[in-house]
Amino acid sequence: MSDTLSTEHLLGIRELAPEDIDLIFRTADGFKEVLGRPIKKVPSLRDITIANLFFENSTRTRISFELAEKRLSADVINFSSSSSSVKKGETLVDTVNNILAMKVDMVVMRHPDPGAAVFLSKHVNARIINAGDGTHEHPTQGLLDVYSIRERLGRVKNVKVAIVGDILHSRVALSNIHCLRKLGAEVMLCGPPTLIPPHAAELGVKVEHDLDKALAWCDVANMLRIQMERQDHSGPTFFPSLREYSMRYGLDLQRYERLGKELVIMHPGPINRGVEITSEVADSGASIILDQVENGVAIRMAVLYLLAGRIPMDAGADRTRV
Ligand code: CP
Repeated sequence: MSDTLSTEHLLGIRELAPEDIDLIFRTADGFKEVLGRPIKKVPSLRDITIANLFFENSTRTRISFELAEKRLSADVINFSSSSSSVKKGETLVDTVNNILAMKVDMVVMRHPDPGAAVFLSKHVNARIINAGDGTHEHPTQGLLDVYSIRERLGRVKNVKVAIVGDILHSRVALSNIHCLRKLGAEVMLCGPPTLIPPHAAELGVKVEHDLDKALAWCDVANMLRIQMERQDHSGPTFFPSLREYSMRYGLDLQRYERLGKELVIMHPGPINRGVEITSEVADSGASIILDQVENGVAIRMAVLYLLAGRIPMDAGADRTRV
């Protein structure tokens, strides 16, 4: 078993080997144990400087990365485009190069454009972690989701996972699909035809437009958010109304109880309560939504730790030991 990632950056799950994912999960297991201790901090990334660059809104991912970095004793810089010189027209590469001139080792970046993290990795000399690039990938979300399934069910192989909702605009869906398929799970996408990408079947997944049939098939239901911000601002353009969407694709207690079996219920957040999932289900014992958030810190610690191990060190320096 290797203890080194096959990649210098985390740009997407598509580029990872199953062995990389297994290594990240095993490393996260160790960090979960650390996070359960009275003193939750380790010196693993002492002397490593990490910039968190967020060109798009975030609550969970931004806080989770910052906490993971601080638990590992890294020096942390936070950048938000809304309060920066990007507003004066500065380009992405100029912004990042200026930050790197201040001797930053790693960059965690969220950006509205698909491919922004790949672009950055080709132009700046630092380890890049994609914290969500447009509708493309959100690799640490995919990792923490699948890690949470592994934790709840004890396995991922042959688990049946339905990903429900706005697949078309979802970077979470693509990262989940790649991660689940690489570890041998079965995946079904469920939603209105207008919100399922036409090439979905090429990803090796099933497609179902009837939510009750998808729920009857699966062990795990990952309920995705309707991404209104990526649709026309005058209202939903991919389905007639939020009310109709919620009737056909929302998970409420009645629908769940009608199934007559237990499911693991997931949601990456933020939740549109009463649209894709009701509070009764989101806050029920079947839901692992807050476990996903908790596991996000351990997963991000694992990713940061393993990628930092690939930073060329000064002779004699040893900055990546737990
Ligand atoms: N799940 C997720 O990416 O949430 P944020 O947009 O709040 O980071």
